[in-house]
Amino acid sequence: MKNFWKQLKPPFLALAPMAGLTDSAYRTICRKNGADVVYTEMISIDALHYDSKKTLKMIEFNKKEKPVVLQLFGKRPELISKAVKIVEQAGYDGIDLNFGCPAKKVVAHEGGITLLKNLDLCHELVQAVCESTKLPVSVKTRVSIGKGKAKVTVLDFLDKIKDLPVSCLMLHGRTYEQAFSGEIDYEMMKAAKEKFKGVVIGNGGISEPEDAGKMLELTGVDGIGIARAIYGRPWIFQQTKDYIKKGKYSHPDLKKIKKIVLEHAEYNFQTKGEHGIVEMRKHLCWYFRGFPQATKLRQKLVRVETVQDIKKVLQGI
Ligand SMILES: Cc1cc2nc3c(=O)[nH]c(=O)nc-3n(C[C@H](O)[C@H](O)[C@H](O)COP(=O)(O)O)c2cc1C
Repeated sequence: MKNFWKQLKPPFLALAPMAGLTDSAYRTICRKNGADVVYTEMISIDALHYDSKKTLKMIEFNKKEKPVVLQLFGKRPELISKAVKIVEQAGYDGIDLNFGCPAKKVVAHEGGITLLKNLDLCHELVQAVCESTKLPVSVKTRVSIGKGKAKVTVLDFLDKIKDLPVSCLMLHGRTYEQAFSGEIDYEMMKAAKEKFKGVVIGNGGISEPEDAGKMLELTGVDGIGIARAIYGRPWIFQQTKDYIKKGKYSHPDLKKIKKIVLEHAEYNFQTKGEHGIVEMRKHLCWYFRGFPQATKLRQKLVRVETVQDIKKVLQGI
């Protein structure tokens, strides 16, 4: 089985995993607008093991997304092999393990970033995935968790798993304690890049294409992972590509934005039916944030029920 990570030409761009957002429709849109690889929302190992219908539906994807990586979360190594077989059969290109999530409900069950406090368990989990699949395995974490003597860093984590064939690390350059804001620790990211033998994707705080340029320069990472900056602007991938290559980029005009929005809505409807349109409402508000008469427009956007409704609102802009 080919390892697609080795075929991506640095610097490449990844859509970082986001629960509730990086579904099949949005991943497709991001791939079409410059992302080189896309990650799913985090998927529960336990739910796959116990054949949760909802989760099996969630992992459906379309070929236009490829290469697409499915991110698993959980802390029970004994459930991994069945979960991994399901992911393989679904046709994914890679499997990622979540060691970075700071969400209360994940941390309360000692999952996500808190796993770093038990490096033996981290090793067991990564080993269980590597031994269950021929797909390339990746991990995602943060620069550290804890303070003083209790502090565990990504470097400790990398030391612990160095005997395992892990192809890629996505590193969010913030600590657990910082959650989603504050300075990015470029030095720790650079040290992780120097230590890890696989591909490293830098993530965190990329709001504009220029931020990606800065991260590449300061850390030497192979790729950049973008998360929140995609809200209402999936074209940030193409802009970032242009910036890295030519030092400049342009903004899509209204006609192009409308085309992308409709395409996004249609994919959402195809994959999730009417509920997909309800979920599309938040994306619509993001797409047209800051437009003239934004409040009036927003009132219309949060009421749409069909693709046709969306078309009608767009005709009036
Ligand atoms: C709404 C939301 C959901 C997220 N879900 C996940 C997830 O499922 N798995 C994961 O590893 N990280 C998740 N993250 C973290 C992002 O992948 C990323 O590491 C973080 O947002 C920092 O990148 P940014 O500054 O570009 O947003 C999530 C972040 C947000 C805002």
